[in-house]
Amino acid sequence: MASARRVTELKVNGASRALDADPEATLLGVLRDQLDLTGSKYGCGEGKCGACTVLIDGQAAHSCRIKVGTLAGRSITTIEGLAGPSGGLHTLQQAFLDLEAFQCAYCTPGMIMAAAGLLREKPEPAESEIVEAMQGNVCRCGTYTRIVAAIRRAAGMTKEAAR
Ligand code: FES
Ligand code: FES
Repeated sequence: MASARRVTELKVNGASRALDADPEATLLGVLRDQLDLTGSKYGCGEGKCGACTVLIDGQAAHSCRIKVGTLAGRSITTIEGLAGPSGGLHTLQQAFLDLEAFQCAYCTPGMIMAAAGLLREKPEPAESEIVEAMQGNVCRCGTYTRIVAAIRRAAGMTKEAAR
């Protein structure tokens, strides 16, 4: 029965969210159009710009290339879910603000989510590892130097907080 194959639930930002989506629909489309989570941006729709980056089970992924039918039991985190339970900014968000690591900011949610995936795996990355990890994210405004600096600062803040 076709309706039985619809996707009716996704775990997003720590909560189970009800929806009704074709399994072939992209995660990005469902997040934005059905769940009102518009922080993840549509840039290319082809996995080439990173504007749509989210975390899936803690790993950065391009949500424009992921079908919701593949996500049963997976945990999705979007930029809206990155802040702590108290609502405070994540260290990456604060670092991007402090260092003004954006101009138009269209790429920023994806940059922050890609960086969050990196810091989760590697809390103290070398600069070359940051550059390598951010290869899938494009900033048309060219703020790469400040983006790398912000990620480095966030890594330092994380380290200080852990002491
Ligand atoms: S919109 Fe997903 S990578 Fe560009
Ligand atoms: S700040 Fe404009 S695309 Fe990155």
